[in-house]
Amino acid sequence: MGGVGEEMRVLESREWYIASYAPQGVPNSDHLKIRTAKLSLALNSIPERHVVLETLFLSVDPYLRSRMTGREDGLYLPQFNLNEVIIAFGVGRVIKSNDTNYSEGDIVISPVTPLAEYCVASSQSITRKIDPHCGISTPEYISLLGVPGFAAWVGIEVIADPKPGSNVFISAAAGGVGMYAGQLAKLKGCRVIGSTGSDEKVRLIKEEFGYDDAFNYHKEKDFDAALSKYFPNGIDVYLDNVGGRMLEAVLNHVNKHAKIPLCGMISEYNKVWTEREGVRNLLNLVGKEVHMQGFMLGSYMDRFGDFAKEMEGHLKHGKIGSKIKIFHGIDKFLESLGSLFTSCNIGKVVIQVKE
Ligand SMILES: NC(=O)c1ccc[n+]([C@@H]2O[C@H](COP(=O)([O-])OP(=O)(O)OC[C@H]3O[C@@H](n4cnc5c(N)ncnc54)[C@H](OP(=O)(O)O)[C@@H]3O)[C@@H](O)[C@H]2O)c1
Repeated sequence: MGGVGEEMRVLESREWYIASYAPQGVPNSDHLKIRTAKLSLALNSIPERHVVLETLFLSVDPYLRSRMTGREDGLYLPQFNLNEVIIAFGVGRVIKSNDTNYSEGDIVISPVTPLAEYCVASSQSITRKIDPHCGISTPEYISLLGVPGFAAWVGIEVIADPKPGSNVFISAAAGGVGMYAGQLAKLKGCRVIGSTGSDEKVRLIKEEFGYDDAFNYHKEKDFDAALSKYFPNGIDVYLDNVGGRMLEAVLNHVNKHAKIPLCGMISEYNKVWTEREGVRNLLNLVGKEVHMQGFMLGSYMDRFGDFAKEMEGHLKHGKIGSKIKIFHGIDKFLESLGSLFTSCNIGKVVIQVKE
């Protein structure tokens, strides 16, 4: 612990909280608000086995939106409490420690990082200490080695496990999950096609992430026709990130025993369930004996070690790449969250809070 002068220090920390729930639509400044809290660095204000963290990076993920509806909405994630600080996956630097396992300057990861500039964190909430000089960039720990990388790995490696030559389709293909899922399927020798929301992203996933082909779903609006064109031999695996009309179109093109890992349905998150797109052709699942399976990462934590080892290996050998969209400053949270529901981003969305 620091000296007397240090102990007197009080930090001002801006933090985001939920002022009111947003049952539908993209949450806005009526729902999400920022305030300034004070945080003491005095010796006796930091409990044992706790540290004070300065937040470096925050992971902005679509599931956060599902915790702001104020009701159960299908993902079965607990709702954030009103007036409480929002929490997310994040990377922080220890600036004060009351735990002999952590020293000032350590860089750590926590899945329950407050959306705040600083916080007092229990050591138990820290999942990993990272070496900033090991050749992996710090934001990669919440991208390739974080929620989207793990979701792509579970969807492709664990649930779909496609054979070489399989026809694989991935929606939201240039986003966090999509860019890794496509690259993993290519590493398994599959033919991989993606859909995404701009020509720039179509180019990117073909040129940088090795997709065999891709289409801009804002331009090719007849999804059924597009899938006929890109999948003349049908679809063996569909990693669904968007749900709705795209899922329905896919079901008209599935091959016998196709696998559909349901990762998420972002096209439906801002609607109450009665307004969501209905899928009319589920009967195809029966005739084609399709395996469609929803999954949540929390159920696969026993595989996290395997995942991290494999992905770090791919990264070191240059077999997998990332694009990370960085918003600068804690005040950008609202904008960054809203951006997930547009086609304006490329890659994984994060906030850099401090250098
Ligand atoms: N099951 C799990 O444990 C788990 C874990 C992580 C993520 N997920 C899910 O995986 C999906 C992708 O997450 P991510 O973090 O990788 O996000 P992301 O793809 O980086 O960002 C969301 C993307 O979705 C697309 N999108 C937004 N609104 C859309 C709409 N109405 N119709 C079609 N596409 C739309 C946009 O890309 P384009 O429009 O340009 O394609 C946007 O960039 C989400 O559904 C998320 O909930 C699930």
